[in-house]
Amino acid sequence: MTHNTEYAIEVDNLTKRYGDLVAVNDISFTVRTGELFALLGPNGAGKTTTVEIIDTIRTPTSGKVTLLGMDVTKGKQAIVNRIGVLPQGFNSFDRITVRETLQYFSRLYSRRNSDIDSLIELVKLEDKAREQYRNLSGGLKQRLGIAIALVNDPEVVFLDEPTTGLDPRARREVWDVLHGLKQKGKTVFLTTHYMEEAELLADTVAIISKGTLIAKGTPAELIETTANFMVLTLQSVDGNVIEIIAQMGFKPVISNDNAIKTRVQHTDDVQKILSAIKDAGAFYQSLDVRKPNLEEVFLKLTGEALHDSHADGRGTT
Ligand SMILES: Nc1ncnc2c1ncn2[C@@H]1O[C@H](COP(=O)(O)OP(=O)(O)OP(=O)(O)O)[C@@H](O)[C@H]1O
Ligand SMILES: [Mg+2]
Repeated sequence: MTHNTEYAIEVDNLTKRYGDLVAVNDISFTVRTGELFALLGPNGAGKTTTVEIIDTIRTPTSGKVTLLGMDVTKGKQAIVNRIGVLPQGFNSFDRITVRETLQYFSRLYSRRNSDIDSLIELVKLEDKAREQYRNLSGGLKQRLGIAIALVNDPEVVFLDEPTTGLDPRARREVWDVLHGLKQKGKTVFLTTHYMEEAELLADTVAIISKGTLIAKGTPAELIETTANFMVLTLQSVDGNVIEIIAQMGFKPVISNDNAIKTRVQHTDDVQKILSAIKDAGAFYQSLDVRKPNLEEVFLKLTGEALHDSHADGRGTT
């Protein structure tokens, strides 16, 4: 089948309703072939609904979704042979080893000659090949899940929150695997609610909030166009620094580590704040002025924090 190979995925005016709830509200975007695309948003934003419509599992209420040139509501059988899916909250057979699991899933796709060793190597589970699923840590389980999504050597891989609930080290190890997928030329569609992950891995980020796509671009573009401010951070402050800054008309906040953070528009503002602190005889140990990250872009766009509210036990640990 010939199609515009520039785009692996084309989503046009996609809407999904569950009764009165509009879970996905008229969203449109494209995913280029070979890119790592991150759909980023907080709990309940509509990420899984969107992914599972694109990967043929759910049906759209309206709109058109094309995957590898095929209409996802029509060419399901042809499509599933060419894609891989890691569902959110993935689980597998408890007492089956890593190797047996991959052999089994590969048989389901009639890929008798799947190169299981290469798959195991790709997700760095060489030392765990004989381990039963139930004995793997959360990060290793997710890596096995990614390997399962790859047994049919898919062109497009969908990974729904592959790192949620993992500790920072396990998360980094999954990121390494995702880098590997990109290097193999796969198109990767990732959902996440970790800004850092999207910023680090994605070629393109689309931010979804309450079913609506509110921004799209490279991480750098999003930061450049949306967040035209800088963040001044003052560490180890002494005296009424926060009041001094607030009195000048800024909106300082105290972060978790007791630093004071303030948005400023110009470097002149930094000068003014520092002078005012000095004049008042207050004190700080160190300072830092930097461009905002995607987290701050999200905050600015939605007024919502995008935080790890998944600490509700849903994720793997
Ligand atoms: N099958 C369903 N039936 C009814 N409502 C649903 C169904 N699936 C999702 N929803 C609702 O649709 C909205 C979007 O859910 P969805 O799972 O797509 O969000 P999400 O961004 O993946 O969230 P999370 O980060 O928690 O996984 C939520 O309000 C959810 O409760
Ligand atoms: Mg989800």
